[in-house]
Order: sequence, then structure tokens, then C-alpha cells
Amino acid sequence: SLPVASVQELAIQKLDKVPLRYVRDDLDQTTPSNPSLRVPLIDMNKLVNPEFREKELQKLRFACQEWGVFQIINHGVFDESLSKMREQVQEFFDLPLQEKKRWAQKPGSLEGYGQAFVTSEEQKLEWNDMIFLKTLPLQDRSLNFWPKNPQEFRKTLESYSEDMRNVAVSIVRFITMGLGLEAQNFCDTFKEGTYEIRMNCYPPCPEPERVIGLNPHADISGITLLLECGDTPGLQVLKDEHWVNVEPVNGAIVVNLGHIMEIISNGNYKAPDHRAVVNNSKQRMSIVTFCYPNPSVDIGPAEMLIKSGSPPVYKTLTNAEYFHSFFNRKLEVSFIDSLK
Ligand code: SIN
Ligand code: FE2
Repeated sequence: SLPVASVQELAIQKLDKVPLRYVRDDLDQTTPSNPSLRVPLIDMNKLVNPEFREKELQKLRFACQEWGVFQIINHGVFDESLSKMREQVQEFFDLPLQEKKRWAQKPGSLEGYGQAFVTSEEQKLEWNDMIFLKTLPLQDRSLNFWPKNPQEFRKTLESYSEDMRNVAVSIVRFITMGLGLEAQNFCDTFKEGTYEIRMNCYPPCPEPERVIGLNPHADISGITLLLECGDTPGLQVLKDEHWVNVEPVNGAIVVNLGHIMEIISNGNYKAPDHRAVVNNSKQRMSIVTFCYPNPSVDIGPAEMLIKSGSPPVYKTLTNAEYFHSFFNRKLEVSFIDSLK
């Protein structure tokens, strides 16, 4: 892997044009064709209230089948905890480069502060700086990549990672309930799951229409929980072949289904393609938690769905086989199709 420059440092130079390595002439238009379309909004208070549950579950099932992404409110995490986390991430990215580099990625490891790895000089770059950390279980933490500056960063991230695990467990329970799988207790496998957090910084860009913050992709997680740090939009999701803006909703968390959930649901639910776009005036930051079931659990269509008569659409793999398939995937075929 080759080192890449910090995008924040580039943005400070107030260039008129972006360097060629960021220019993408293969981009779909970044302005959505239907700007008023909104991803579904799910109220978790209604999911836990017997009076409203059935209707909200229907809404959730529709969201999982037709969108693969939705926002949740009343998720149980205090606003102050979310704000504290946002504030620490902002303070971290505001530090001078030399200070941030104390927690820089090391060759061959994904964790730490830096940029997505590139493997060739020709490869186009994304307009994104990040810090990526494994947060749970405790023994997976590599504290040498955990910033000590700002001072409360570690403590805040520790408690935020527990908050996100709790949200994952409760929303997975309802997501799988929508498939009629409550008996199988999938949410238990997320109690002892694996969690990773990626904090993203997208500085303002002089030519936002010509670059991409994050390339289109679907997540390989079970689910992904995304927290916006402000009200600047940037996340877009592909719906019926059109890009739709995910508009930040105050206090909400964006839930995005990953391929593992797509597989468990035997293709009933879809992991949507999404990307991040940038703008020319405002820096955007996001805090993204990837949630995986416990690695001892095989990844395959839920048994109850198969027993009830639908043939399995996907193979069942061990956790190790699943990640091996991903890291050794062929770029010409879609990853999820290779698991059929
Ligand atoms: C973002 O919206 O900033 C990140 C999207 C992603 O995690 O893919
Ligand atoms: Fe993603």
C-alpha cells in the first residue's frame, strides 16, 4: 500500500482545482434527480409499544425490503452522549497534522488515522480523511491507534461503542422480527458481536462535482449505524437506480443493512449501494459503526426461512470463509453474487 496525502491539508491550500488524482470523469451526477425523496424514518418508541408495534414493524419491513436504509429516532442513546462523541471527533480532526499522525495507520493495517489504502499510483483517490478503530470486543482493541488527544477521546469512544452495541442489538431484534425470526434470537449474536468505528472527515472541495468522498459500495457488515456530525448532507443511497440524499435528521441514527443481513434474510432484505459526496463550502464529518454478529456464528440464510419452504439463495459460510471471500473477491463480479 502507498501513502496518500491528507485531504484536510490539501483543502487548507485553497486550490482552484483539485489535483488530478482526485478527478473522476466516471461519476454519476451528484445532485439527486428527485431531491424531495426521503429514506424511511422509524420511531423505536413505537416498536416497543404494543399499541403501535404492528404498524411500525410493517414500516420497518418495507424499509428493509425497498430501501435497505432508514433512520431511527428514540433509539435510547442520550443526545448528550451523541454530542460528546461528535465534539471529540471534531476536536481530533482539528488537531495539527503532526499530532494526528501519532495515531497514523501502519503499513498493512487498516486501523488508525489516514486514508483508504491505494495499491497503485494510477488509482483515483477519495476526498476523505478518516480514523478507523476496532472497538468491541475489548480484546480486539489496538490502543496504540486510539488517540489520547483530545483528552476525553478514549473515554468517549468507549462509552459510544457500548451505546452503539445496544442500539444494534435492539434494532436487529426488530429487523429480524420483520422476517418472522424472533424465535431464532439473532440479536443475541450481536450482543457478543464485533464492532468497528470509522470516523470520516470530508473537507470542503473546490470542485465537488468532479470528486467523490467515498466510492459507491455496499457494506459487508450485519448492519451499519451512521451518526451525522452536523446538518450538511453527503451520504447518498441508490434507490431504483437513482441516488437519493440521506438528509440529516436531528438526533437520529442512520441504519444501513449490510451483506450479512441480506444473507440471513435469504435475499428478502437488500444491502443498498451508497456513497458520500462532498460540497464546496462546508466540512462534513460522520461517525460510522460497523456491526457484525459473533464470529463463531455461521453466515447463511436463517434456518427458519429455509424450513418454511424457500430454497436458500446464498451459501452458508463460516465467518472466516466469508471474510476470506471478501478479501479475495474478483473485481469483475459483485461480491454478494459470488456467494450465491
Ligand atoms: C458517510 O456517509 O460519511 C459514510 C458512508 C459510508 O460509511 O459508507
Ligand atoms: Fe458504507
